Amino acid sequence: MLREVTADRYVTPLREGGSLPGLVEAGAGGLWVAKFVGAAQGRKALVAEVVSGELARRLGFRVPELARMEVDPRVAVGEPDQQVQDLVKASGGTNLGMAYLSGALGFDPLAFPVDPKLAGRVVWFDALIGNVDRSWRNPNLLVHGGELWLIDHGASLIFHHNWPRAAASARKGFDASDHVLLPFGPDVATADAELGPRVTEALLREVLALVPDVWLDAEPGFDDPDAVRAAYVAQLAARAAGPREWVSL
Ligand SMILES: Nc1ncnc2c1ncn2[C@@H]1O[C@H](COP(=O)(O)OP(=O)(O)OP(=O)(O)O)[C@@H](O)[C@H]1O
Ligand SMILES: [Mg+2]
Repeated sequence: MLREVTADRYVTPLREGGSLPGLVEAGAGGLWVAKFVGAAQGRKALVAEVVSGELARRLGFRVPELARMEVDPRVAVGEPDQQVQDLVKASGGTNLGMAYLSGALGFDPLAFPVDPKLAGRVVWFDALIGNVDRSWRNPNLLVHGGELWLIDHGASLIFHHNWPRAAASARKGFDASDHVLLPFGPDVATADAELGPRVTEALLREVLALVPDVWLDAEPGFDDPDAVRAAYVAQLAARAAGPREWVSL
């Protein structure tokens, strides 16, 4: 189960984010980054955050804690920005919270060297989930406590936007030419040997169980949320099973 928190106060928008995430106080003053279900990216972006984020965590990457965040739209009544007002108003119910890493810095490849092993693991993982959102323009990596943290997986798992064609794309190659960690000489082969066998159906089922039903309900072509979960498991298991030609750079 993901932890459940309730938004007590909308603090401020995080303007760098295209989906207009907000900094929110929830549960005993804890600070969370809220990703709103009413954003243009839609609920599937939140599914991708949970599936990719929790899979990354289980493969040994640092990922801020993820939580279900219940939002009453009234938390934003005092917010002067109309865009924020509209977004929060459209997001009553279950949203995604990500623990706010206070004092974290945006990743700068010139200031924070990454060893080829870790770079290889990140590139391999992004190839698995089809994440093109880790470029030098938009690294979606934070540096906190001297370590590299992965954030923002909302644009990954693009196959879920077209389920009828998903299976046919399971082994599709990944173009890493824009990846922010490419200059560090990522050792993708070692990462593949180490991580590939760990992406099992059992692990994927554990991860999919964390996705709230309300983000999977009424998906066209599926009877119920568990049927959608099974489709994600099958898709990612097929991609992780050998041969993994999508890995080559
Ligand atoms: N857990 C966190 N701790 C601290 N800062 C964070 C955290 N999550 C996000 N941020 C900050 O907020 C910014 C926007 O977050 P994020 O990239 O997740 O939003 P987005 O709307 O998906 O963005 P994008 O424009 O990349 O699609 C990040 O670039 C980072 O500066
Ligand atoms: Mg981002």
